[in-house]
Amino acid sequence: MPEKLYEGKAKKIFATDDPNLVSQQFKDDATAFDGTKKSQIVHKGVSNARISACLFRLLEDNGIATQLIEQTAEDTLLTRKLDMYRVELVVRNYAAGSIVKRLGFEEGQKFKKPLVEYFLKDDSLHDPLITCMHIEEMGLVAKDELQELKALALRVNQILSDFFAGRGITLVDFKLEFGKDSEGNIILGDEISPDTCRFWDAETGRKLDKDRFRFDLGDVEQAYEEILNRVEG
Ligand code: TMP
Repeated sequence: MPEKLYEGKAKKIFATDDPNLVSQQFKDDATAFDGTKKSQIVHKGVSNARISACLFRLLEDNGIATQLIEQTAEDTLLTRKLDMYRVELVVRNYAAGSIVKRLGFEEGQKFKKPLVEYFLKDDSLHDPLITCMHIEEMGLVAKDELQELKALALRVNQILSDFFAGRGITLVDFKLEFGKDSEGNIILGDEISPDTCRFWDAETGRKLDKDRFRFDLGDVEQAYEEILNRVEG
C-alpha cells in the first residue's frame, strides 16, 4: 500500500516510487461552507478525476504546463509533485457566489472584463480574500511570479471559456491553484471540476456544478455526470 502523504476534503495524495510524482485519488466526499456542510456525491471521485484529466490535457495542448502525467485509475491521477502556493486564484466572467454577497453585483451580470481575485489558503481564517499587497507582505508569491500567475489564470480562462462555449456551457467562474516543481517551474495543479468551477447551461441557465450541493438544488449527481459527458463528448 503506498504511503498516504495527505488527505484533504476532496482528495487523498499518495507517494509513488518516484519522489517527483504523487498519486491523487479523488473522493466522493463533498463539503461546503468551510466543511460545515458534509455529505457524499455518488460517483463524484470518478467524474472529477476524468473531467480534470480531460481539461488539464486541453490546457497542455494549448501551452499551459499542468501537474498531470496520466490517469492511472478511474478516480486517480498520477501528477507531478508541486510545492503549492498558499494562494487560490479565482477568475470570474459573470457575477455569482461570494462576489454577489460581498459587492452587491446581481447574479448573472457579465463583467466588462474577467476579474481575477486572490484568496489565502487557510482554513482557520476561512480562506479570506486578499490583495496583491497582502501577498507581497506575507511573502506568499514573488511579485513577478504573481504577474505570471495572473496572466496564466486569464489564459486558462480564455481556453476553458471557448471550450465550454462549444459544448453549450457558460463558464461563470472558477478557482485555480499553482505550485512549483523541483526545478522551480510554475505549474498548474489541484483540479478543475464542478467542485471548483461554476458551469451554467448556456441555453437554460441551469446550474451544473457544486452549487447544486451547496444550496440543496437536487440532481447533484446528474449535474456532475452531465459535465463529464459534455467534456468528454
Ligand atoms: P466563491 O464565489 O464562493 O468565491 O467561489 C468562486 C469559485 O471558486 C467557484 O467557481 C467555486 C470555487 N471554489 C472552490 O474551488 N473552492 C472553495 O473553497 C470555494 C469557496 C470556491
